[in-house]
Amino acid sequence: MTDLKTSLSEAVGAAFAAEGVDKALARVTASDRPDLADFQSNGALAAAKALKANPRELAAKVAERLAADPRLSSVEVAGPGFINMKLSNAALAQRAAEVAADEELAGASRVEPRKVVIDYGGPNVAKPMHVGHLRSAIIGESLKRLFRLRGDEVVGDAHFGDWGFQMGLLITACGDEGLADAFMAEGDGPFPAETPVTLADLDRLYPLAAGKAKEDPAFRDRARKATAELQGGRPGYRALWQHFVAVSREALKREYDDLSVDFDLWNGESDADPLMDEMIADLKAKGLLVEDDGAQVVHVAREGETRKKKLADGSVIEAPSPPPLLVISSEGSAMYGTTDLATILDRKKSIGPDLILYVVDERQAEHFEQVFRAAYLAGYAPEKSLEHLGFGTMNGADGKPFKTRAGGVLKLRDLIDQATEKARERLHEAKLGDDLPAEEFEDIAHKVAVAALKFSDLSNNRTTSYVFDLDRFMSFEGKTGPYLLYQAVRVKSLLRKAAEQGVALAPIVIEEAAERDLALTLDAFDAATADAYDKRSPNLIAEHAYRLAQSFSKFYAACPILVAPDAATQGSRLALAAAALHQLETALRLLGIETPERM
Ligand code: ARG
Repeated sequence: MTDLKTSLSEAVGAAFAAEGVDKALARVTASDRPDLADFQSNGALAAAKALKANPRELAAKVAERLAADPRLSSVEVAGPGFINMKLSNAALAQRAAEVAADEELAGASRVEPRKVVIDYGGPNVAKPMHVGHLRSAIIGESLKRLFRLRGDEVVGDAHFGDWGFQMGLLITACGDEGLADAFMAEGDGPFPAETPVTLADLDRLYPLAAGKAKEDPAFRDRARKATAELQGGRPGYRALWQHFVAVSREALKREYDDLSVDFDLWNGESDADPLMDEMIADLKAKGLLVEDDGAQVVHVAREGETRKKKLADGSVIEAPSPPPLLVISSEGSAMYGTTDLATILDRKKSIGPDLILYVVDERQAEHFEQVFRAAYLAGYAPEKSLEHLGFGTMNGADGKPFKTRAGGVLKLRDLIDQATEKARERLHEAKLGDDLPAEEFEDIAHKVAVAALKFSDLSNNRTTSYVFDLDRFMSFEGKTGPYLLYQAVRVKSLLRKAAEQGVALAPIVIEEAAERDLALTLDAFDAATADAYDKRSPNLIAEHAYRLAQSFSKFYAACPILVAPDAATQGSRLALAAAALHQLETALRLLGIETPERM
């Protein structure tokens, strides 16, 4: 289904072409003067220049061709040669009815399907998640839903950090504390099937071990060795590691569930391990893997790509930029980049994606540049099929990445709890949901909390950092998640009331200015989703959702529904409200936000 704006663009393009003008010049945009017109095309100005013709005359000829278009109620030439177009009320009514009937897409359209992997979330086993992981989960989930809506076959992969140095740290700390003696033996086992550690143990052990590694070089070396042995396949370590992963994953799953974030693959860095030997051999055979100071690296900088680097002795050299990708450390361990490269190979074999999107903190931009270049050099992915979608940080009032009150890294659980508490307060203040059963009230508070967190994140441009301000996020006024939920719930209760009063839906008829505006907004959803998809920018969806809620709110104020003079008007306005609700809920769902039935 095409939106009116697109189909109108085509008609204007055809009219230009009939006048011997390149139809690409016919661009149709929303009118600068919504009081006079809905859309405009300024193409005659540029075209006349090229043809050395009079722009007003050319515009008049194009306008004349468009005059018979049934979708337009008026076509006028203004100023030096602008073409102003006003849609007929009938065309708007028909479009609104289409949106209402379009159960799956609510007026959006699809693309030629591709296979897309979205790598997001990226939490680390045993390490607490930080705001970067939160943002990745929120943005990645939204992009996954958006790409799916547009028709792509999407696989969301959590890509757990389960294979790096932190695993060696944990194993060593567990051993030192005598928590996992049965797993420390060198043989083949068998090893206990019961986990020797709880989530609380992991929460306590990781910071302990990380701190110790900083102060105690002997401990750090043992942890490095344990990491290499784990990766080398030492059975006791593998068995213990599996328990770490299982305990940690179960806890993470609960937190993601709470945020309505869900992955198709709960894979980790370790899942690419079986491909490691093959990949190393392949990189060697292709002459890409070279020795560098005891380590094995892939050079990824091209001729002349250098930057100044200060050496330990204070001298400055021109070093390759980006630096080489470290594939095997001098201790023989696979590194972060190694697992990423092997994972690309794994995805190529098991999925064959046309595109892989990495929703990861902007600060990892260089890492991905290195990995992508290595993957292209090795032929593991088609050129341009790998994209790093970086994002800024969520900051505290001090402008630094957000921390909890205690000063520690943020725990997702605590953040959600804190937001839910604030949501309860706000709902009580606004006298919302007070008379509902306690269980339903809790569910509403949770939905409001998640909507507040997600919307405040997604309404910002992905790349900008923003300040965490729960008071502002949680307001029922302004551009916030709670405001949008409130508007959606208002329509739901209107629909319920209409049903009680026996007001039935009727064909949509557009007459009032507020009805026109609402129908035009419904039409704009297609362009918003297409744009958000092309730019990988969920904030354009957030923008549209807000515009729609506002447009609905104005319509509701200007056009009484249940007390309208006749059944046809009541039913038409009710149908328009239902269409708005359907599109609003679809947009919110793209943002990963669920709407309660009432509040
Ligand atoms: N675990 C990583 C971190 O905490 C993020 C993983 C991102 N995805 C990836 N394919 N590297 O920084």
